[in-house]
Amino acid sequence: MSVHSDIRKVTTHVLSELKLKGEKIAMLTSYDYSMAKLVDEAGIDVILVGDSASNVMAGNVTTLPITLDQMIYHGKSVTKAVKRALVVVDMPFGTYQGNSKEALCSAVRIMKETHADAVKMEGGSEILESIDRILSAGIPVMGHLGLTPQSIHKFGTYVVRAKEEEEAAKLIEDAKLLEQAGCFALVLEKIPAHLGAKVAQEVKIPVIGIGAGSEVDGQVLVIHDMLGITQQFSPRFLRRYHNLAAEIKGAVGSYVQDVKAVDFPNEKEQY
Ligand code: KIV
Repeated sequence: MSVHSDIRKVTTHVLSELKLKGEKIAMLTSYDYSMAKLVDEAGIDVILVGDSASNVMAGNVTTLPITLDQMIYHGKSVTKAVKRALVVVDMPFGTYQGNSKEALCSAVRIMKETHADAVKMEGGSEILESIDRILSAGIPVMGHLGLTPQSIHKFGTYVVRAKEEEEAAKLIEDAKLLEQAGCFALVLEKIPAHLGAKVAQEVKIPVIGIGAGSEVDGQVLVIHDMLGITQQFSPRFLRRYHNLAAEIKGAVGSYVQDVKAVDFPNEKEQY
């Protein structure tokens, strides 16, 4: 349990304080009421309603197909369960790139309909106008740089980003731009650890890593990956804390056997 479990609600201000104090920030994804309730009660600081819902909840190959309505559905389910964690909802692909007015409408819908605390957006200078407009409406924005899965068709692969100097320099520049614009935090995905450390040192806002090394201000993982529900996905940065796939299959197998053997329900399990 975090030493901050006494605080009623984690806010963007609390996250800045954690960075100042040098206490790491723990963030995980959730997409539904039951999981979000457990994750919140276990003391997580930030819950991300990630567009990874497209992969782990809907079975899509990429994050691109998930819609604003679907993200709002997941966001609403999560906020109903959460009492303490800061809840951030991903803005889905196609709802903010290239049109800042549409971006603001999308963000306003997310905030009004889900009651989340903030939105997250992928990209740097190229989406700055959208970020500015959303921030000007008083909506907190978390940035996301490095491997940005919504641009997978541009990258062509999920390999480590910013290994070359030019891309690393652009990433640092983008991180500073997002900080200056007013983003309250930043996710860095799948970049060299030394670059993660450099960004965390050079910006004052909290930097949350996923495959960005240990010298950033916090870590985030997809809950289905860290619990071992997803089985095929095994990047180096992923630590599995459980093998829930085996547990679930074992329990379901036992149930099937009991039903077939007319061992369930027993005398005490019926009216
Ligand atoms: O959608 C998501 O789950 C994310 C995390 C991987 C940071 O953006």
